[in-house]
Amino acid sequence: MHTIALVGCGRISFKHIEGFINNADELKLAAVCDPVIRRAQEKKQQYKKSFPDATIGVYADYREMLDTRKPDIVTIAAESGRHPEIAIGCLEAGCHVICEKPMALSTKDAAAMIAVAQKCNKKLAVCFQNRFNAPVQRLRTALDAGRFGRLLHGMVQIRWNRNEAYYAEAPWRGTWAMDGGTLMNQCTHGIDLLQWMMGEDAVRVQAQTRRFMRPIEAEDFGAAIVEFKSGAVGIIEGTADVFPSNLNETLSLFGEKGTAVIGGLAVNRIETWRFADAGSVGDTEEKVLDQNQKDPPTVYGFGYSALFKDFVDAIRQNREPLISGEKGQKALEIILAIYKSQKTGKPVDLPCDFSTLEMAGEFK
Ligand SMILES: NC(=O)c1ccc[n+]([C@@H]2O[C@H](COP(=O)([O-])OP(=O)(O)OC[C@H]3O[C@@H](n4cnc5c(N)ncnc54)[C@H](O)[C@@H]3O)[C@@H](O)[C@H]2O)c1
Repeated sequence: MHTIALVGCGRISFKHIEGFINNADELKLAAVCDPVIRRAQEKKQQYKKSFPDATIGVYADYREMLDTRKPDIVTIAAESGRHPEIAIGCLEAGCHVICEKPMALSTKDAAAMIAVAQKCNKKLAVCFQNRFNAPVQRLRTALDAGRFGRLLHGMVQIRWNRNEAYYAEAPWRGTWAMDGGTLMNQCTHGIDLLQWMMGEDAVRVQAQTRRFMRPIEAEDFGAAIVEFKSGAVGIIEGTADVFPSNLNETLSLFGEKGTAVIGGLAVNRIETWRFADAGSVGDTEEKVLDQNQKDPPTVYGFGYSALFKDFVDAIRQNREPLISGEKGQKALEIILAIYKSQKTGKPVDLPCDFSTLEMAGEFK
Protein backbone atom coordinates (compact mmCIF):
# COMPACT_ATOMS: atom_id res chain seq x y z
CA MET A 1 0.00 0.00 0.00
CA HIS A 2 1.33 3.46 -0.95
CA THR A 3 0.28 6.79 0.51
CA ILE A 4 -0.49 9.39 -2.14
CA ALA A 5 -1.03 13.16 -2.11
CA LEU A 6 -2.69 15.43 -4.67
CA VAL A 7 -1.17 18.86 -5.39
CA GLY A 8 -3.58 21.10 -7.31
CA CYS A 9 -7.32 20.65 -6.82
CA GLY A 10 -8.89 22.43 -9.83
CA ARG A 11 -10.85 21.29 -12.88
CA ILE A 12 -9.04 18.01 -13.67
CA SER A 13 -8.35 16.89 -10.11
CA PHE A 14 -11.58 14.84 -9.83
CA LYS A 15 -10.04 12.38 -12.33
CA HIS A 16 -7.04 11.94 -10.01
CA ILE A 17 -9.35 11.22 -7.06
CA GLU A 18 -11.25 8.71 -9.24
CA GLY A 19 -7.92 7.09 -10.11
CA PHE A 20 -7.01 6.76 -6.41
CA ILE A 21 -10.42 5.28 -5.59
CA ASN A 22 -10.24 2.78 -8.45
CA ASN A 23 -6.79 1.65 -7.23
CA ALA A 24 -7.70 1.59 -3.53
CA ASP A 25 -6.08 -1.81 -2.98
CA GLU A 26 -2.70 -0.12 -3.57
CA LEU A 27 -3.24 3.63 -3.02
CA LYS A 28 -4.39 5.46 0.08
CA LEU A 29 -5.02 9.22 -0.12
CA ALA A 30 -3.02 11.00 2.62
CA ALA A 31 -3.29 14.67 1.68
CA VAL A 32 -4.77 17.23 -0.71
CA CYS A 33 -3.11 20.62 -1.35
CA ASP A 34 -4.26 23.81 -2.97
CA PRO A 35 -3.69 27.44 -2.00
CA VAL A 36 -7.45 27.80 -2.56
CA ILE A 37 -8.26 25.68 0.48
CA ARG A 38 -11.96 25.26 -0.44
CA ARG A 39 -10.92 23.28 -3.53
CA ALA A 40 -8.72 20.99 -1.46
CA GLN A 41 -11.64 20.43 0.95
CA GLU A 42 -13.88 19.49 -2.00
CA LYS A 43 -11.42 16.81 -3.14
CA LYS A 44 -11.24 15.43 0.39
CA GLN A 45 -15.04 15.18 0.37
CA GLN A 46 -15.06 13.48 -3.07
CA TYR A 47 -12.71 10.79 -1.71
CA LYS A 48 -14.60 10.44 1.55
CA LYS A 49 -17.79 9.49 -0.30
CA SER A 50 -16.04 6.18 -1.02
CA PHE A 51 -13.91 5.99 2.15
CA PRO A 52 -15.72 7.83 4.98
CA ASP A 53 -13.14 6.81 7.62
CA ALA A 54 -10.08 8.06 5.72
CA THR A 55 -7.79 10.57 7.49
CA ILE A 56 -6.77 13.15 4.90
CA GLY A 57 -4.62 16.21 5.54
CA VAL A 58 -5.66 19.46 3.85
CA TYR A 59 -2.86 21.90 3.02
CA ALA A 60 -2.46 25.26 1.30
CA ASP A 61 1.31 24.73 0.90
CA TYR A 62 2.59 21.51 -0.64
CA ARG A 63 6.01 21.94 1.04
CA GLU A 64 4.39 21.81 4.45
CA MET A 65 2.50 18.70 3.32
CA LEU A 66 5.76 17.05 2.20
CA ASP A 67 7.39 17.79 5.59
CA THR A 68 4.51 16.56 7.72
CA ARG A 69 2.90 13.73 5.68
CA LYS A 70 5.86 12.34 3.72
CA PRO A 71 3.68 10.61 1.09
CA ASP A 72 5.16 7.85 -1.11
CA ILE A 73 3.64 9.32 -4.29
CA VAL A 74 2.49 12.81 -5.32
CA THR A 75 0.23 13.58 -8.29
CA ILE A 76 0.55 17.11 -9.62
CA ALA A 77 -2.46 18.86 -11.18
CA ALA A 78 -1.48 22.50 -10.66
CA GLU A 79 -1.04 24.94 -13.56
CA SER A 80 1.38 23.66 -16.20
CA GLY A 81 3.98 26.39 -15.60
CA ARG A 82 4.27 25.28 -11.96
CA HIS A 83 4.93 21.59 -12.71
CA PRO A 84 8.78 21.70 -12.78
CA GLU A 85 9.18 23.46 -9.43
CA ILE A 86 6.60 21.28 -7.65
CA ALA A 87 7.80 18.03 -9.27
CA ILE A 88 11.44 18.68 -8.40
CA GLY A 89 10.47 19.63 -4.82
CA CYS A 90 8.50 16.39 -4.42
CA LEU A 91 11.19 14.18 -5.99
CA GLU A 92 13.87 15.73 -3.76
CA ALA A 93 11.62 15.11 -0.75
CA GLY A 94 11.71 11.39 -1.64
CA CYS A 95 8.36 10.99 -3.44
CA HIS A 96 7.56 9.32 -6.72
CA VAL A 97 5.72 11.78 -9.01
CA ILE A 98 2.87 11.55 -11.50
CA CYS A 99 2.72 14.92 -13.28
CA GLU A 100 -0.08 16.30 -15.41
CA LYS A 101 0.64 17.08 -19.04
CA PRO A 102 2.49 18.99 -20.28
CA MET A 103 5.24 18.08 -17.83
CA ALA A 104 6.91 21.47 -18.41
CA LEU A 105 6.92 24.41 -20.82
CA SER A 106 10.57 24.27 -21.84
CA THR A 107 12.98 21.55 -22.93
CA LYS A 108 15.40 22.59 -20.15
CA ASP A 109 12.80 22.23 -17.39
CA ALA A 110 11.71 18.80 -18.67
CA ALA A 111 15.34 17.65 -18.76
CA ALA A 112 15.87 18.94 -15.21
CA MET A 113 12.85 16.99 -13.92
CA ILE A 114 14.11 13.77 -15.54
CA ALA A 115 17.62 14.31 -14.17
CA VAL A 116 16.34 14.88 -10.61
CA ALA A 117 14.14 11.75 -10.78
CA GLN A 118 17.20 9.75 -11.82
CA LYS A 119 19.42 11.29 -9.15
CA CYS A 120 16.83 10.62 -6.43
CA ASN A 121 16.03 7.15 -7.81
CA LYS A 122 12.30 7.96 -7.96
CA LYS A 123 9.72 7.26 -10.66
CA LEU A 124 8.35 10.10 -12.77
CA ALA A 125 5.34 9.70 -15.08
CA VAL A 126 3.32 12.09 -17.25
CA CYS A 127 -0.51 11.98 -17.52
CA PHE A 128 -1.05 10.98 -21.12
CA GLN A 129 -3.97 8.81 -20.03
CA ASN A 130 -5.34 8.34 -23.57
CA ARG A 131 -2.53 5.86 -24.23
CA PHE A 132 -4.58 3.51 -22.05
CA ASN A 133 -7.82 3.85 -24.06
CA ALA A 134 -8.81 0.35 -25.17
CA PRO A 135 -8.81 1.17 -28.94
CA VAL A 136 -5.42 2.89 -28.62
CA GLN A 137 -3.97 -0.15 -26.84
CA ARG A 138 -5.43 -2.37 -29.55
CA LEU A 139 -3.84 -0.21 -32.23
CA ARG A 140 -0.51 -0.40 -30.44
CA THR A 141 -0.72 -4.20 -30.26
CA ALA A 142 -1.40 -4.38 -34.01
CA LEU A 143 1.54 -2.07 -34.67
CA ASP A 144 3.91 -4.06 -32.40
CA ALA A 145 2.85 -7.26 -34.20
CA GLY A 146 4.04 -5.68 -37.47
CA ARG A 147 0.58 -5.74 -39.03
CA PHE A 148 0.97 -2.35 -40.75
CA GLY A 149 4.14 -3.37 -42.57
CA ARG A 150 6.08 -0.18 -43.28
CA LEU A 151 4.37 2.86 -41.78
CA LEU A 152 3.96 5.58 -44.39
CA HIS A 153 2.07 8.37 -42.73
CA GLY A 154 -0.05 9.19 -39.72
CA MET A 155 -2.36 12.04 -38.86
CA VAL A 156 -3.91 13.43 -35.73
CA GLN A 157 -6.85 15.84 -35.74
CA ILE A 158 -7.96 17.55 -32.55
CA ARG A 159 -11.06 19.55 -33.38
CA TRP A 160 -12.33 20.87 -30.12
CA ASN A 161 -13.97 23.95 -28.67
CA ARG A 162 -12.50 25.88 -25.75
CA ASN A 163 -14.63 28.99 -25.53
CA GLU A 164 -14.13 32.33 -23.80
CA ALA A 165 -15.74 31.04 -20.59
CA TYR A 166 -13.11 28.29 -20.39
CA TYR A 167 -10.28 30.81 -20.58
CA ALA A 168 -12.04 33.26 -18.22
CA GLU A 169 -12.43 30.50 -15.61
CA ALA A 170 -8.65 30.37 -15.02
CA PRO A 171 -6.57 33.33 -16.27
CA TRP A 172 -3.37 31.25 -16.52
CA ARG A 173 -4.82 29.36 -19.50
CA GLY A 174 -3.50 30.46 -22.88
CA THR A 175 -0.58 32.43 -21.38
CA TRP A 176 2.97 31.77 -22.55
CA ALA A 177 4.29 31.71 -18.97
CA MET A 178 1.85 29.17 -17.52
CA ASP A 179 0.22 27.19 -20.35
CA GLY A 180 0.96 27.79 -24.03
CA GLY A 181 -1.89 27.47 -26.52
CA THR A 182 -4.17 24.70 -27.69
CA LEU A 183 -1.30 22.59 -29.07
CA MET A 184 0.40 22.53 -25.67
CA ASN A 185 -2.75 22.13 -23.60
CA GLN A 186 -5.38 20.11 -25.50
CA CYS A 187 -3.54 18.70 -28.54
CA THR A 188 -0.55 17.42 -26.58
CA HIS A 189 -2.42 14.13 -26.02
CA GLY A 190 -2.95 13.50 -29.73
CA ILE A 191 0.60 14.58 -30.55
CA ASP A 192 1.89 12.15 -27.93
CA LEU A 193 -0.11 9.32 -29.50
CA LEU A 194 1.02 10.17 -33.03
CA GLN A 195 4.72 10.21 -32.13
CA TRP A 196 4.37 7.06 -29.97
CA MET A 197 2.91 5.16 -32.91
CA MET A 198 5.29 6.62 -35.49
CA GLY A 199 8.48 5.56 -33.66
CA GLU A 200 9.17 8.26 -31.04
CA ASP A 201 11.93 9.76 -33.17
CA ALA A 202 10.76 12.99 -34.78
CA VAL A 203 13.62 14.67 -36.62
CA ARG A 204 12.08 17.75 -38.29
CA VAL A 205 9.00 19.92 -37.89
CA GLN A 206 7.43 22.56 -40.09
CA ALA A 207 4.41 24.46 -38.82
CA GLN A 208 1.92 27.31 -38.99
CA THR A 209 0.08 28.38 -35.86
CA ARG A 210 -2.49 31.13 -35.35
CA ARG A 211 -4.44 32.93 -32.68
CA PHE A 212 -7.61 33.24 -34.68
CA MET A 213 -10.31 34.17 -32.20
CA ARG A 214 -9.71 33.33 -28.53
CA PRO A 215 -8.77 36.12 -26.08
CA ILE A 216 -5.40 34.57 -25.15
CA GLU A 217 -1.68 35.19 -25.76
CA ALA A 218 -0.94 31.83 -27.38
CA GLU A 219 -2.28 29.92 -30.40
CA ASP A 220 -5.83 28.55 -30.74
CA PHE A 221 -4.96 26.73 -33.99
CA GLY A 222 -1.96 24.85 -35.31
CA ALA A 223 -1.01 22.79 -38.37
CA ALA A 224 2.27 20.93 -38.58
CA ILE A 225 4.15 18.38 -40.62
CA VAL A 226 6.50 16.14 -38.64
CA GLU A 227 9.17 14.02 -40.29
CA PHE A 228 10.25 10.86 -38.45
CA LYS A 229 13.63 9.13 -38.61
CA SER A 230 12.17 6.35 -40.79
CA GLY A 231 11.09 8.91 -43.39
CA ALA A 232 7.43 8.47 -42.44
CA VAL A 233 5.43 11.68 -42.16
CA GLY A 234 3.06 12.83 -39.42
CA ILE A 235 0.42 15.50 -39.90
CA ILE A 236 -1.07 17.49 -37.02
CA GLU A 237 -4.24 19.59 -37.14
CA GLY A 238 -5.31 21.08 -33.82
CA THR A 239 -7.86 23.73 -32.94
CA ALA A 240 -9.83 25.10 -30.00
CA ASP A 241 -12.12 27.07 -32.33
CA VAL A 242 -14.60 24.49 -33.60
CA PHE A 243 -18.15 25.85 -33.76
CA PRO A 244 -20.18 25.23 -31.64
CA SER A 245 -18.64 22.44 -29.51
CA ASN A 246 -16.11 19.58 -29.42
CA LEU A 247 -16.22 17.58 -32.66
CA ASN A 248 -13.58 14.85 -32.65
CA GLU A 249 -10.07 13.73 -31.82
CA THR A 250 -8.92 11.27 -34.45
CA LEU A 251 -5.70 9.36 -35.00
CA SER A 252 -5.14 7.74 -38.39
CA LEU A 253 -2.28 5.40 -39.30
CA PHE A 254 -1.47 4.31 -42.85
CA GLY A 255 0.95 1.46 -43.49
CA GLU A 256 1.66 -0.61 -46.61
CA LYS A 257 -0.44 -3.50 -45.20
CA GLY A 258 -2.84 -1.79 -42.82
CA THR A 259 -5.05 1.25 -42.27
CA ALA A 260 -6.58 2.17 -38.92
CA VAL A 261 -8.54 5.20 -37.76
CA ILE A 262 -9.37 5.77 -34.09
CA GLY A 263 -11.82 8.62 -33.67
CA GLY A 264 -14.80 9.58 -31.57
CA LEU A 265 -14.79 12.45 -29.14
CA ALA A 266 -11.30 11.66 -27.87
CA VAL A 267 -9.64 8.72 -29.66
CA ASN A 268 -12.06 6.27 -28.11
CA ARG A 269 -13.79 4.61 -31.11
CA ILE A 270 -12.32 2.47 -33.88
CA GLU A 271 -13.65 3.87 -37.15
CA THR A 272 -11.54 2.01 -39.70
CA TRP A 273 -9.69 -1.29 -39.20
CA ARG A 274 -8.33 -2.85 -42.39
CA PHE A 275 -5.38 -5.23 -42.44
CA ALA A 276 -3.99 -7.56 -45.07
CA ASP A 277 -3.92 -10.37 -42.47
CA ALA A 278 -7.44 -9.72 -41.07
CA GLY A 279 -8.59 -13.16 -42.25
CA SER A 280 -5.90 -15.08 -40.35
CA VAL A 281 -6.02 -12.84 -37.25
CA GLY A 282 -9.83 -12.95 -37.19
CA ASP A 283 -10.48 -9.23 -36.68
CA THR A 284 -12.51 -8.17 -39.67
CA GLU A 285 -13.47 -4.50 -39.74
CA GLU A 286 -17.12 -5.38 -39.21
CA LYS A 287 -16.36 -7.39 -36.07
CA VAL A 288 -14.02 -4.77 -34.61
CA LEU A 289 -16.42 -1.86 -35.22
CA ASP A 290 -19.15 -3.86 -33.51
CA GLN A 291 -17.09 -3.97 -30.30
CA ASN A 292 -16.94 -0.16 -29.99
CA GLN A 293 -18.04 1.33 -26.69
CA LYS A 294 -19.91 4.59 -26.11
CA ASP A 295 -18.11 7.94 -25.94
CA PRO A 296 -16.79 8.67 -22.43
CA PRO A 297 -18.70 11.34 -20.45
CA THR A 298 -15.80 13.83 -20.85
CA VAL A 299 -12.83 14.21 -23.18
CA TYR A 300 -10.63 13.09 -20.26
CA GLY A 301 -11.69 9.53 -21.05
CA PHE A 302 -11.32 6.32 -19.08
CA GLY A 303 -7.49 6.13 -18.91
CA TYR A 304 -6.54 7.66 -15.54
CA SER A 305 -7.16 4.57 -13.42
CA ALA A 306 -5.08 2.40 -15.76
CA LEU A 307 -2.30 4.99 -15.77
CA PHE A 308 -2.19 5.06 -11.96
CA LYS A 309 -2.22 1.24 -11.89
CA ASP A 310 0.70 1.12 -14.33
CA PHE A 311 2.59 3.55 -12.08
CA VAL A 312 2.08 1.42 -8.98
CA ASP A 313 3.11 -1.69 -10.93
CA ALA A 314 6.22 0.16 -12.14
CA ILE A 315 7.22 0.90 -8.52
CA ARG A 316 6.64 -2.72 -7.47
CA GLN A 317 8.45 -4.19 -10.46
CA ASN A 318 11.14 -1.49 -10.40
CA ARG A 319 10.63 -0.68 -14.07
CA GLU A 320 9.83 2.56 -15.88
CA PRO A 321 6.15 3.54 -16.07
CA LEU A 322 4.67 3.36 -19.60
CA ILE A 323 4.82 7.15 -19.87
CA SER A 324 8.04 7.95 -18.02
CA GLY A 325 9.54 11.43 -17.98
CA GLU A 326 11.67 10.54 -21.03
CA LYS A 327 8.60 9.37 -22.96
CA GLY A 328 6.47 12.28 -21.75
CA GLN A 329 8.94 14.90 -22.93
CA LYS A 330 8.76 13.76 -26.57
CA ALA A 331 5.41 15.42 -27.33
CA LEU A 332 6.65 18.53 -25.53
CA GLU A 333 9.74 18.65 -27.77
CA ILE A 334 7.58 18.43 -30.90
CA ILE A 335 5.24 21.19 -29.71
CA LEU A 336 8.14 23.47 -28.81
CA ALA A 337 9.66 22.79 -32.25
CA ILE A 338 6.27 23.74 -33.79
CA TYR A 339 6.37 27.00 -31.83
CA LYS A 340 9.93 27.68 -32.97
CA SER A 341 8.94 26.98 -36.58
CA GLN A 342 6.08 29.47 -36.31
CA LYS A 343 8.42 32.05 -34.79
CA THR A 344 11.23 31.61 -37.31
CA GLY A 345 9.12 30.78 -40.37
CA LYS A 346 11.45 27.84 -41.04
CA PRO A 347 11.58 24.07 -40.54
CA VAL A 348 13.11 23.10 -37.19
CA ASP A 349 15.38 20.09 -36.60
CA LEU A 350 15.03 18.08 -33.40
CA PRO A 351 16.29 17.95 -30.76
CA CYS A 352 15.97 21.68 -30.24
CA ASP A 353 16.06 23.83 -27.12
CA PHE A 354 13.03 26.08 -26.76
CA SER A 355 10.63 27.52 -24.23
CA THR A 356 7.11 28.94 -24.50
CA LEU A 357 8.55 32.14 -23.02
CA GLU A 358 10.38 32.73 -26.31
CA MET A 359 6.97 33.08 -28.00
CA ALA A 360 6.01 36.18 -25.99
CA GLY A 361 4.47 38.79 -28.32
CA GLU A 362 4.03 36.39 -31.28
CA PHE A 363 0.32 37.08 -31.81
CA LYS A 364 0.06 40.74 -30.77
N1 LIG B 1 -4.66 14.95 -18.67
C1 LIG B 1 -5.69 15.69 -19.03
O1 LIG B 1 -6.57 15.25 -19.80
C2 LIG B 1 -5.85 17.08 -18.47
C3 LIG B 1 -7.07 17.73 -18.56
C4 LIG B 1 -7.18 19.02 -18.02
C5 LIG B 1 -6.07 19.64 -17.45
N2 LIG B 1 -4.88 18.97 -17.42
C6 LIG B 1 -3.68 19.61 -16.85
O2 LIG B 1 -3.86 19.69 -15.44
C7 LIG B 1 -3.29 20.88 -14.94
C8 LIG B 1 -4.37 21.66 -14.18
O3 LIG B 1 -5.38 22.04 -15.08
P1 LIG B 1 -6.83 22.49 -14.54
O4 LIG B 1 -7.63 22.78 -15.75
O5 LIG B 1 -7.32 21.53 -13.54
O6 LIG B 1 -6.42 23.87 -13.83
P2 LIG B 1 -7.20 24.67 -12.70
O7 LIG B 1 -6.78 26.10 -12.80
O8 LIG B 1 -8.65 24.35 -12.73
O9 LIG B 1 -6.58 24.04 -11.37
C9 LIG B 1 -5.24 24.23 -10.97
C10 LIG B 1 -5.23 24.28 -9.45
O10 LIG B 1 -3.87 24.27 -8.98
C11 LIG B 1 -3.83 25.09 -7.86
N3 LIG B 1 -2.45 25.47 -7.50
C12 LIG B 1 -1.69 26.48 -7.98
N4 LIG B 1 -0.49 26.50 -7.38
C13 LIG B 1 -0.46 25.46 -6.53
C14 LIG B 1 0.49 24.97 -5.61
N5 LIG B 1 1.70 25.54 -5.46
N6 LIG B 1 0.18 23.90 -4.88
C15 LIG B 1 -1.03 23.31 -5.01
N7 LIG B 1 -1.99 23.74 -5.85
C16 LIG B 1 -1.70 24.79 -6.61
C17 LIG B 1 -4.72 26.26 -8.21
O11 LIG B 1 -5.13 27.02 -7.05
C18 LIG B 1 -5.88 25.54 -8.88
O12 LIG B 1 -6.89 25.20 -7.97
C19 LIG B 1 -2.71 21.63 -16.13
O13 LIG B 1 -1.34 21.33 -16.25
C20 LIG B 1 -3.47 21.04 -17.31
O14 LIG B 1 -2.74 21.08 -18.52
C21 LIG B 1 -4.76 17.70 -17.90
